[in-house]
Amino acid sequence: MSTPNTDTGTEKLVANLMPQMRRDLKIRAAERGINASDAVVSALALWYEAPHCDEVEVKGARSFASYVQPGGVKRFEDECAKRGLSKVQGLAQAITNWLVRHPSLTAPLVKQPVKRILVGNQKGGVGKTFIAAALAQAFAEMGLRALLVDYDPQGHLSARLQVADLPTGGDSLLQHMLGKARQHLRRSIIALEEVPIEGREINPGPMFDGRLHILPAFEDAFLMDASLATMSAGRDTCLRRALEPVEDDYDVIVVDGPPNLGLGMELAIDYVHRRKGELVDHSGILIPVWTDKSSFRAYDLLNQQIQTTCMNMRIEVDQLGFVINAYDARKGTVTRAFYEEWNMLTSPSVLAELKDSIEGRESSDYEVPLFQYAPTCVQAESMRKLAKELAA
Ligand SMILES: Nc1ncnc2c1ncn2[C@@H]1O[C@H](COP(=O)(O)OP(=O)(O)O)[C@@H](O)[C@H]1O
Ligand SMILES: [Mg+2]
Repeated sequence: MSTPNTDTGTEKLVANLMPQMRRDLKIRAAERGINASDAVVSALALWYEAPHCDEVEVKGARSFASYVQPGGVKRFEDECAKRGLSKVQGLAQAITNWLVRHPSLTAPLVKQPVKRILVGNQKGGVGKTFIAAALAQAFAEMGLRALLVDYDPQGHLSARLQVADLPTGGDSLLQHMLGKARQHLRRSIIALEEVPIEGREINPGPMFDGRLHILPAFEDAFLMDASLATMSAGRDTCLRRALEPVEDDYDVIVVDGPPNLGLGMELAIDYVHRRKGELVDHSGILIPVWTDKSSFRAYDLLNQQIQTTCMNMRIEVDQLGFVINAYDARKGTVTRAFYEEWNMLTSPSVLAELKDSIEGRESSDYEVPLFQYAPTCVQAESMRKLAKELAA
């Protein structure tokens, strides 16, 4: 199917692509100062001249779209038909070829800084805290040093991991943001340990081996907007400055986003912006959504805030992708239609989906990390896959 774009005269080529390949394509294209669509055009040109390409594994391919020259969609479809290939296979071959001929320029040269991920969506209850916690556990399990930042004044993340108290001598994150802290930020961070579960054996082994840390929420976080309003200079970048002193201690920092689009959210968006020399999609915002109408409206508002923050701060912020949460096809055709609508989006696109599960609910209610409570459950598996993809 081809959809002409009347502004540019190009056509939209829609064919599924594996998430890893999509990321590599985006990164390599950005390294060369071109966009992913230009890279696809170049990949197809190479592919037309290479009649015999090896078959590529296309398992897990997801919705992907790019723009090609007028007539490009038909030419691609005809060529796939001629070679007896599906469009997914044809595109995967073309891009594989292109990636081989365009090796990464920066990866071996630039050591990537800490990865900063904001799990953000002002809509309440979409699973930000659940996903932030499980993702950080998956990173820690992979061997990465992970810091979870409880940035929601309600402190659900801290409570669900049974971390409620400020370590002795520690200042709150807000005090650090205001420049009023007396101690190093490290003094406010706690290494997460396995917690006892009543009536249940603790899963054996040092699950995170001291690699999963949390910066808990503090009660004064409720005062954040009001306190920051009185700050005369450096307000826009105060979260960057507050967290910077501990960034060398971690491979990844996951921020559990606030439930509104206030100043706190603006600072969090700024915090995960792409730093100089950082690869596209190394850091950015991961957006949990539901398959309902209000989630689209919520995303629309969130996207506006991201764009405005980028413009005001002159920064670039990558939207890493959506995580569809609590999807259940049995909820009916409307839910399924919204599910398909999310999956049609390509920039950002859907990176993972989670069903609502008993293990997830119970781990929250018992206040035990999901990876400790049910390490082999489907959700833990999905989070491992997502962490692997984000870490790649
Ligand atoms: N996929 C899931 N399976 C089971 N429980 C979930 C899932 N996602 C979220 N929850 C639970 O739903 C509730 C709301 O999720 P939460 O992460 O607190 O949302 P948010 O942080 O966006 O407000 C929590 O009790 C959480 O543990
Ligand atoms: Mg939350």
